[in-house]
Amino acid sequence: MEFNASRRLQSVGEKYLAIQQANINQLKKAGIEVLNLGRGNPDLPTFMPVVQAAKTALDNKANHGYPPYGGKPALKTSIKHFYQREYQVALEDDEITVFSGSAAALTALPMALADPEGVVLTPTPAFFGYHIGITMSGAEEWQMPLLEKNNYLPDLENIPQTIRDRSQLMFLNYPHNPTGAGATQDLFDRVVQFGLDNHIAIVHDFAYADISFEHQAPSFLQSKRAKETGIEIYTLSKTFNMAGWRSAFAVGNASIIKLLKAYIQNSVGGTFGVVQDASEYALDTQIKERKQLRDTYLERRNTVIQLLEAHHFSVSQSSGTFFVWLQLPETITDDKQFAKSLLNNAHVAVVPGSAFGEAGQGYLRISLVADKATLSSGINQLITYLKQYRE
Ligand SMILES: Cc1ncc(COP(=O)(O)O)c(C=O)c1O
Repeated sequence: MEFNASRRLQSVGEKYLAIQQANINQLKKAGIEVLNLGRGNPDLPTFMPVVQAAKTALDNKANHGYPPYGGKPALKTSIKHFYQREYQVALEDDEITVFSGSAAALTALPMALADPEGVVLTPTPAFFGYHIGITMSGAEEWQMPLLEKNNYLPDLENIPQTIRDRSQLMFLNYPHNPTGAGATQDLFDRVVQFGLDNHIAIVHDFAYADISFEHQAPSFLQSKRAKETGIEIYTLSKTFNMAGWRSAFAVGNASIIKLLKAYIQNSVGGTFGVVQDASEYALDTQIKERKQLRDTYLERRNTVIQLLEAHHFSVSQSSGTFFVWLQLPETITDDKQFAKSLLNNAHVAVVPGSAFGEAGQGYLRISLVADKATLSSGINQLITYLKQYRE
């Protein structure tokens, strides 16, 4: 017997990266080498001292049973110190919950806070992770366009009153995947006021918190009264190259934290104790390693931007993340079609902007999670291929 997906799961649709990966696999099978500048998976290993801490934690029998839901007390203490040290934000125990990767929480939040007659506000273009929970919850998604002329920040004034009245949740993400744009504290201040005025739970996805080049990326919780209306989600995936470990936490409004914790407790369950101990160690230490990683991404970003600008392509000066956002020449009217033909003919994989929502049409997202040689070859092949569309 074969079973079909529920209508809600069907309407989530397939992730662009999964479809592209199938295409890459076919090319590889035919013996073709693909330069993959599409993925979002850190290419460098977890910092060695963190791996060592995990090895020690594995010998601790207390880690072999069910882990405590919401995080071990020692990890919560490290999170408190981390937020105090990095962002000068003080946290209480009931303002913290730990889970296995932020993707799980992004899906859980609409299920825990939104109703079928409600609205969830999302940025567009944006990471695909927000749609899944919204679709499964049955709530309506209302997209806030992030435009280049507004430095990819949402225009809150543009959200109609009828939508505000029905909104229960808003997702934001800075440094922003896919454009690389950074937030300002002023934006967060206005978002807090918006959340307070309209009784909306704000969720700031801080996945690229530590990959910010000119200055430290601001935390949403640094805005006054932020904790009255929202939470911030921090993942260890990018800061410490720990994507495979599945370690993340949320901090902020105690009532949202409580609902999120309850939902995760009954779905994904707790986070493996070894992962929690290693996360505690990572948050307490690794200052030097984090800086080295940031410098590596900055060097890669500069290489990519210099190559593209030398050939007069229009590229955003990303302030953070490990992505570069490239505007396509106007002669290319379908970015998905272009990305497909680039992959099949020039053997370079990148993600078309519209894979992140219609507002991304006309752009490409280039990932910096590849070594410099792969990046340079990939960008040179992309430039050669793009040039034929210039005239
Ligand atoms: C914006 C954004 N949020 C969340 C995630 C998911 O992170 P995690 O590894 O914690 O599930 C990603 C991963 O690529 C991302 O780009």
